[in-house]
Amino acid sequence: MSSSLFRTKRIEQSILDTEEPEHALKKSLSALDLTVFGVGVIIGTGIFVLTGTVAKNNAGPAVALAFVVAGVVCALAALCYAEFASTVPVAGSAYTFSYASLGELPAWIIGWDLVLEFALGTAVVAVGWSGYIRSLLDNAGWQLPEALGGRDGADGFGFDILAAALVLVLTAILVLGMKLSARVTSIVVAIKVAVVLVVIIAGAFFVKGANYDPFIPKERPVEAGDGLHSPLIQLMFGWAPANFGVMGIFTAASVVFFAFIGFDIVATAAEETKNPQRDMPRGILGSLFICTALYVAVSIVVTGMQHYSELSVDAPLADAFKATGHPFYAGVISFGAAVGLTTVCMILLLGQTRVFFAMSRDGLLPRFFSRVHPRFRTPHRPTILLGVIIAIVAGFTSLSELAELVNIGTLFAFVIVAISVLILRRSRPDLHRAFRTPWVPVLPIVSVGASLWLMLNLPAETWVRFGVWMAIGIVVYFLYGRSHSRLGREEETQPDEVFRPSNGDTK
Ligand code: ALA
Repeated sequence: MSSSLFRTKRIEQSILDTEEPEHALKKSLSALDLTVFGVGVIIGTGIFVLTGTVAKNNAGPAVALAFVVAGVVCALAALCYAEFASTVPVAGSAYTFSYASLGELPAWIIGWDLVLEFALGTAVVAVGWSGYIRSLLDNAGWQLPEALGGRDGADGFGFDILAAALVLVLTAILVLGMKLSARVTSIVVAIKVAVVLVVIIAGAFFVKGANYDPFIPKERPVEAGDGLHSPLIQLMFGWAPANFGVMGIFTAASVVFFAFIGFDIVATAAEETKNPQRDMPRGILGSLFICTALYVAVSIVVTGMQHYSELSVDAPLADAFKATGHPFYAGVISFGAAVGLTTVCMILLLGQTRVFFAMSRDGLLPRFFSRVHPRFRTPHRPTILLGVIIAIVAGFTSLSELAELVNIGTLFAFVIVAISVLILRRSRPDLHRAFRTPWVPVLPIVSVGASLWLMLNLPAETWVRFGVWMAIGIVVYFLYGRSHSRLGREEETQPDEVFRPSNGDTK
């Protein structure tokens, strides 16, 4: 039994699977498309919304350092992702990578984890988007009824109709085809980056040096409340829960980490890339580098414009301009943020459906979901199913509760990918790797440690929720995936020859 749980899928088989006509996605993306894709999903709620909250509650102006910390953790993981993505160019990201290296059960766990990351991430961003749209509507003097205006402000029943509508429209766009989505994405990404540059360049003229004093505010103890809200690391070591100071930077980093989520999704599009061996590493590292530079610059400017204790938590970038008497810029920024969050939401949704698609193609989820649409060549069934579910979740969910859950899921995926790089180097040294992670084994080991460190800085209750989701996943695997696994069936019929060229649908 234990050997079947750790059966691995041959990499050649993964690549062959993608060539079956009925299960093949169109290969149309270039390195530039991937970079645009990456920037499109990376810059979002994290920088536009969380910067203010975190500066105010955890780090002060040192939120810029928190971005550096989170960026370094992501860069380490990106170097591992890039090796895998360029070696295993198949839809499914960390899921596919771990199927090829760690085995079926770990692959299932990671796939289940990615579904959580992307689905909840989509919902979180849709809710953030809805907030900006409502603020723009507000400027024009229009207001939605409170019950349709989102969870955060609602007493009793509340359904965020704008967030749900956004998810449904994006689902339809994705069903119609990848290329259309990429084109829409490029335009929106250009607007979003332009707005971020406006914040940096225009904002730089309104910075006051006094706001940086102190750059790292002194540590302040927080009232001992419900222990589950404290970072796990503080509970583990019995430290007094505190904000600000050096530890505050790490707490902040574990939250603003959300701002970097997305570069891993570039890897999920490997199968739709023209030359994945060359273009994937360029796409992943390029988009990550651009975003880190922008985040650090934005957070330095914003905390310089307004004292951190006065930053707004809803729309900190726009409100900093209002506070310095420049409402015109505030309007432009709100508009850009609303437009920009659209692509984030769309790409998270895309990553999500591709993981689901890959798991279904392997038989771990019903194969019904892995038939691509005969005309659009997109996995329309998981796209529609998940789009509807996420729309409902987005309608009923408040933003803050879920962002941390998304972070822990993503960091967990980073840990598995880094370990997989080490394992695959040993088990398949022969494979062609267009991109090789430098300083193996040191770099992957440091990457595992760094990701775990940020995970430990998340609240204990986030760990509990994550544990429950993963436990459900294990049950589903043993009730369905294990017995329906395509790899498992092939092993039963051909025990000595798991890998063989397949001719079309093997359902
Ligand atoms: N990185 C994305 C954001 O900040 C998910 O919204």
